Amino acid sequence: MKNQERPIGIFDSGLGGLTVFKAVRALLPGENLVYFGDTARVPYGTKSAEAVVAFSKEITAFLLEKKIKLLLVACNTASSLALEEIRAVSPVPVLGVIAPGAAEAVAAARPGGRILVTGTSATVASRAYSKALAAAGYKGRVTEKACPLFVPLVEEGWCSKPVAGIVAREYLASFRRSGIDVLILGCTHYPLLKKVIAGVMGPGTRIVDSAKAAADSARRELEARALLNPGRKGRSEFVVSDAPEKFSFLARKLLGIRTGQVLVKRF
Ligand code: DGL
Repeated sequence: MKNQERPIGIFDSGLGGLTVFKAVRALLPGENLVYFGDTARVPYGTKSAEAVVAFSKEITAFLLEKKIKLLLVACNTASSLALEEIRAVSPVPVLGVIAPGAAEAVAAARPGGRILVTGTSATVASRAYSKALAAAGYKGRVTEKACPLFVPLVEEGWCSKPVAGIVAREYLASFRRSGIDVLILGCTHYPLLKKVIAGVMGPGTRIVDSAKAAADSARRELEARALLNPGRKGRSEFVVSDAPEKFSFLARKLLGIRTGQVLVKRF
């Protein structure tokens, strides 16, 4: 296999990373992609850093066996807690979703505006977005808010049920009148609740997610290394650690992705 034809590895704790997969597929149609969803161990957002690092390294080793040329960590929690550890064991470049998402938010923010970061408890506790926003030159006010119930809502396929609105209001209504300029969807699952979240925040708040920005960063990285695979129809392979049928069903229902056969890899 030529180096360009080697796949891009993408992983997440479950199906939320498919938002990143979809953005990569749209931007880089010729690329071969292998997606791993750790459906047996989701959620990561409530776990310790040690556990997330250990899971991430196992998945990295599995994807490296697939001869990937680039690894995209599509999980915000793993990107927050394990990126350096993954890089230390990976011979191929490793990209996360935090820096691209932060850059997108800085570009969208008005001078002196206020940014609200939403994410899992682990991502928020790590302050990874606050650090990335500062590194990207943002000098305004940043607030972080954990919204842990959003993940099971999405995994249950309940993005448009009334309960999604109730939960979103509970977490976010108090920010509605706090002059939030930009809200970062700092979790792979949250873009699937974008309409509901935007509805709670109102028209004065721009909603930013990392999926498209992460796909852009993958393209730049491959271009710089002359590893882009030209062409129009790359292969997509999906592997999960449990419940492949549910993954396949929700991928289609929530994101319109037809996975074909989903393989299972247990650790
Ligand atoms: N994929 C995780 C993230 O982006 C959310 C789900 C989880 O808690 O595992 O942070």
